[in-house]
Parts: sequence; C-alpha cells; structure tokens
Amino acid sequence: MRKHIVAGNWKMNNGLIQTETLISELKQQEKTSDAEVMIAPTFTNLWHAFQSTRQDDIEVIAQNMHFAEDGAYTGEVSAGMLKSIGIQTVILGHSERRAYFKETDESLAKKVSTALAHNMRIVFCFGEELSDRKAGNEEIVVENQIKKALFHLDASAFKAIILAYEPVWAIGTGETASPEQAQDMHAFIRKTLMNKYGEITSDEVSILYGGSVKPNNAKEIFSKPDVDGGLIGGASLKAEDFYAIVNAF
Ligand code: PGA
Repeated sequence: MRKHIVAGNWKMNNGLIQTETLISELKQQEKTSDAEVMIAPTFTNLWHAFQSTRQDDIEVIAQNMHFAEDGAYTGEVSAGMLKSIGIQTVILGHSERRAYFKETDESLAKKVSTALAHNMRIVFCFGEELSDRKAGNEEIVVENQIKKALFHLDASAFKAIILAYEPVWAIGTGETASPEQAQDMHAFIRKTLMNKYGEITSDEVSILYGGSVKPNNAKEIFSKPDVDGGLIGGASLKAEDFYAIVNAF
C-alpha cells in the first residue's frame, strides 16, 4: 500500500519566532487521518524545527539542497549538512526553483543522485506551465521532466522518491486543477513509471498533487485513486487549515 502524505512547503516565510508559534499550533491539532505529515521550513529554522518536533508525528524536511558534496558554492547547503542535523527528506525541483533560480532537469538529476547517495528521501516536483496546457502539451512536458531527472535511476531508488505533480498555473494562484485533471495526470505519471519500471514500482510510488490545495477542495482531490496526498504552500502556514487538509483523507 502506498502512503498518504501531506507536506507543507513554507517557502520563504516565517522567522524563528513565527516558526516556533506555528509549530506549537500544529502540535495542538488533532490528526484523524493516516497521512504522513511533513513541514518544510526555511534553512535557518530547520534545526530548531527538527528539535521541537522530535516527539511528534511531524517530519521536518528541507526545501532544497545543492548537488555537490561541499566546496565553493556560496550560499548553498549540501545533503551532508542536512543529514548532520537530522533532516532525512528534501524537496527537489519545485517550480519556483526552476523558474527563479534556473534549475534544470540536468542539475536536478544530479541533485536526485546526491540525495539518494545520502540515503535521503526526495519529494520531486514537476508540472507544466499554462502555455503547455493550452497547447495540449502537458503530458509530454511532464513525461520529459520525469525522464530527464529520474530515469537514470534503478527501480529500487523509487522506494525513496515521492512525486509531486504541481501544474505551474495552479501554484499560489488560487486556481486548482480540477480533481479530474489531477487524476488524469496522476494516472499518466503512474503509467509512465510503469512502462519503464513495471507495475510493482509504479503502484508503490506516492504521487502528491500541489497547487492551491485548500481545506475546501482537499477532500475531493484526495478522493481520486491516483492522488496520494498534497504539497501545500499557502494553506500550510495556518495550523487549522493545514490539518483540515491532512485530515481530508
Ligand atoms: P500553493 O503552493 O498551495 O500556495 O499553491 C503549492 C506549492 O508551491 O507547493
């Protein structure tokens, strides 16, 4: 059985005090679903967030990392540094990283390999732009993103990989893919994996949907058979909203 996962991507929000406050509010929420809960604070607060959730059913994960082991990469953070403070999972390939920081499928393939070499789990993000969807190219775009960044891996690597389909036009816009659009794309993603790695692997990989998931639409999106959870931006910054989404399963 593949896992249900709800991950909160805090992006560049929350200093230390706000991080402490939000975490203490998150801890007060009641979890009634079987979903794994993850939160991704910014780098400077990872250690503190990790320490303060040690006893809780919340995994603290990173939003990004560099592919190199160490060296002259000013401003970057390595997999080894994340592991050294207890972080086991990293988000890679978020569309904001691709758009604003020029991350490419090729550099992401390297990041994926480095994270796996450090026995980390990866939440790997991809998704088409509005122009791709308008041109009817969403499947080919998504297929290429997956192939270029992940198809150098063996099937066994997918035990450590969580996929997150995030149509760029739905991120932070208040516009969501319809539950049917999400389901169609998730089924296509699973088929793409099946063709390369076989059914056992494709059946086991959790595929999250991201893009304006809110308490009022999560239940319907999560009810689709190939949607195994969500990557939540805006709504992860409010404890009640985030747990309403966690509990939508
Ligand atoms: P959003 O962000 O929920 O604010 O649309 C999703 C994401 O960027 O992961």
